[in-house]
Amino acid sequence: MPAFTAQAPAKVILFGEHAVVYGRPAIAVPVTSLRARAIVRAEPRAPHGQVRLLAPAVQLDALLDELAEDHPLRRVVELTAEELGAAYLPACQISIQSEIPPASGLGSGAAVSVAIIRAVAAYLGKSLSDETVSKIAYEVEKIYHGTPSGVDNTVIALQKAVFFVRGEPIQPLRVGRPFTLVIADSGIPSPTAATVADVRAAWQQDPERFEALFDQIGAIVLQACALIEKGQPDQLGELMNRNQSLLQELGVSSPVLEHLIEAARHAGALGAKLSGGGRGGNLIALVNSSDASTVAQALKEAGARGVIVTTVG
Ligand code: PMV
Repeated sequence: MPAFTAQAPAKVILFGEHAVVYGRPAIAVPVTSLRARAIVRAEPRAPHGQVRLLAPAVQLDALLDELAEDHPLRRVVELTAEELGAAYLPACQISIQSEIPPASGLGSGAAVSVAIIRAVAAYLGKSLSDETVSKIAYEVEKIYHGTPSGVDNTVIALQKAVFFVRGEPIQPLRVGRPFTLVIADSGIPSPTAATVADVRAAWQQDPERFEALFDQIGAIVLQACALIEKGQPDQLGELMNRNQSLLQELGVSSPVLEHLIEAARHAGALGAKLSGGGRGGNLIALVNSSDASTVAQALKEAGARGVIVTTVG
């Protein structure tokens, strides 16, 4: 039987997480060395319209309509079929494999959604625009995250660096000169929904202070955007450090993240910050490419679980 396969990359947020939920801009980039894959195989001998979902990493082997109606994997398949005007999917098996660690700020949920959307569309002999893929994945992000800004589904559907403002059309960001990042996993799973909810509660307590912090983060994002486009990434390090201080003030850093960020800076990183929801998950360090292995090694010695070196642009 022919198989229809689609892949989607991980992502990191370079600048602007959390403030982006409140209308400030953010910059995110794909991480193509980590991927989610979805494979759709027709099962002509299976009963009419029977869809089996297999995701061994989460011990899932179930028929689509046995899953709860708001199960993210069921929703993404149904929304894609609906978008394409298909009343049902011809019987098939959808396998999901992902190298992206979940709950770590790398966009694993959105990447799985985007891979499924594209594989199901291909199975139905159709293709969808990046905007439509992103729109469907956003609906599923709401199940995972509650009030997502939409940055994850946007950068992952586009597979390019983006300057993202909630509710505005997708704006790719031109990277004037490539730069190197070390991405390190703190090893602490941290669901984004929890940190986003905590920031919301704190903002409700003291809106003036939090709006001012969001404004400062927004200003950093604009400066970073100009430097990336102009091809002056070396100067991004200082902006990362300032963004990290503001994330600390929002209450989404943690002693483990601070320890790892300090280790990266000490080993020669030009700047470092948490990336994504925070508390645990991943941090990113900007490095000269010649220092990447030294910084990666220092992060491992400081306790990071997984370390990846990636080039942006
Ligand atoms: O933890 P991640 O990588 O899914 O990123 C969350 C980013 C936030 O700004 C904290 C939330 C959002 O929806 O943008």
